[in-house]
Amino acid sequence: MNIIHVSSYEELSRKAADIIAAQVILKPDCILGLATGSTPIGTYQNLIKKYQQGDLDFSKVTTFNLDEYLGLTPDHPQSYRYFMNDNLFYHVNVHPECTHVPDGCAADPKAYGLAYDQAILEQGGIDLQLLGIGNNGHIAFNEPADEFVKETHTVELKQSTIEANKRFFESIEQVPTKAITMGMGSIMKAKKVLLIADGPAKKEAIEKAFYGPICPQVPASILQLHPDLTVICHLD
Ligand code: PGA
Repeated sequence: MNIIHVSSYEELSRKAADIIAAQVILKPDCILGLATGSTPIGTYQNLIKKYQQGDLDFSKVTTFNLDEYLGLTPDHPQSYRYFMNDNLFYHVNVHPECTHVPDGCAADPKAYGLAYDQAILEQGGIDLQLLGIGNNGHIAFNEPADEFVKETHTVELKQSTIEANKRFFESIEQVPTKAITMGMGSIMKAKKVLLIADGPAKKEAIEKAFYGPICPQVPASILQLHPDLTVICHLD
């Protein structure tokens, strides 16, 4: 585990983008696991800049996102598909059909989740998984629980997550209460994991996740068992 403390959000974003860019340069047909939330926005902006400068080519890249709100269609401005299109995909030369975000409106979410994991496996697995971390220690929408779940599955969001995400919606009532999320299986099978955390609100989650016991009540703590984990933190 490599924990890097940086002194600004800009530095965090530059470093994270450099790691992702290195992955794409070394393996142009790599599989990237991508994340939403406010933390990766700067990382994506840096990746877009590199693409615009001619330093990065996404034409052979495939992406799989971590999660999606249940019930939001891809064209809903708060859906994670919309977020990814808006913050990255529409600005680089990734082929739209090679980008995957879980379908929040799947008729049979359980079967859909299994098929999502299978699609990742069939592509050869994730080469580099980007993750944020929730204030409560969640990764993707794997909320604190009594056990780790392996497969892509549906979850009830914790009140703390709904509170944290209400800033993106007009009112808290509009925040979906359920989501579909990649489980720990596909995340832990990723060849490399890069977790980024920004701001003092993440301090406790980082301490518990990486300096405390491994337990499903702190979902990110399982990453202590990952053989190639980099954490970039700006926690001031
Ligand atoms: P944030 O979310 O980047 O918006 O803080 C991270 C997360 O909840 O995983």
